[in-house]
Amino acid sequence: MAEVLDINSLSKRYAAIQAVNQLSVKVEQGSIYGLLGPNGSGKTTTLGMVLDVIKTTAGTYSWFGQPSSRETKRRVGALLETPNFYPYLTAQKNLEVIADIKGADKANVNRVLQLVGLESRKSSSFKGFSLGMKQRLALAATLLNDPEVLVLDEPTNGLDPEGIAEVRELILRIASEGKTIILASHLLDEVEKVCTHVAVLQRGQLKAEGPVGAILSAKDQILISAPNLPIVTEVLQRLPFIEAFKPEKDTVVLTLKDGYSSTDVNKAMFEAGIVLSQLVVRRKSLEAQFLEIIKSQS
Ligand SMILES: Nc1ncnc2c1ncn2[C@@H]1O[C@H](COP(=O)(O)OP(=O)(O)OP(=O)(O)O)[C@@H](O)[C@H]1O
Ligand SMILES: [Mg+2]
Repeated sequence: MAEVLDINSLSKRYAAIQAVNQLSVKVEQGSIYGLLGPNGSGKTTTLGMVLDVIKTTAGTYSWFGQPSSRETKRRVGALLETPNFYPYLTAQKNLEVIADIKGADKANVNRVLQLVGLESRKSSSFKGFSLGMKQRLALAATLLNDPEVLVLDEPTNGLDPEGIAEVRELILRIASEGKTIILASHLLDEVEKVCTHVAVLQRGQLKAEGPVGAILSAKDQILISAPNLPIVTEVLQRLPFIEAFKPEKDTVVLTLKDGYSSTDVNKAMFEAGIVLSQLVVRRKSLEAQFLEIIKSQS
């Protein structure tokens, strides 16, 4: 797979604040890559640096295997802040103005209006649009010169649930056209719903990185205790339906492959001659998972 963006030990310091600290990640072509982290974790700063609008303190990055240049920039569309649209102009006219500024073909205006689902509203003025429609128009504007990559900073911020759903759906539709998407979000469930890959940031540092399914597994955990834990772990190693397990003080925390439940664990232990003193199923909230990722890596 070709690499679209390669970030290598990138850092940004603002006086006493280390906003981004030696961040290294690679974004592959066709992925929807999420930068996930709480407020102030360095997401916007990272996007700003790779888009050449914030000066780096140290480190490098390359786009499509080359240093950033006018040519690479032409291939990347970005939405860091909501663009200024003219309130009294129609959606179509607004996009024509932006196409002019970008040197994009006006013929693209209709194509992007269709893509973002605003074709039927193209003659309505911008000021009457809902927030979700405004954000879709902003996405349309970034698509005017048909970039291969879209960089989006908190694309659903400030939207109501309906607007959020619309924009997320649109992002998936844009990705299905073969574009690579890099998006920053502080919402774990957003990254889980939309992204294929994720980098988790905290205070400018990379805490975890990889395919969303591997990093943000929403699986329930099972906690078991027994008088003799070493024997328990021996048995767990042999059981084919255990996905992963980790001893923690007097308990072992484990996850199961799909289709199995805590009953299977209990039965297998009993058959091995082990009577469990505790068996608890812990449903993980997304927030708990997030804290766990951050904690386990620091
Ligand atoms: N221009 C600046 N001058 C000084 N400090 C800054 C500046 N921009 C950002 N910072 C600091 O750098 C850190 C990272 O900020 P950044 O905006 O990148 O975080 P973020 O992850 O995008 O947060 P949010 O979720 O709130 O958008 C924060 O501590 C922030 O206060
Ligand atoms: Mg930000």
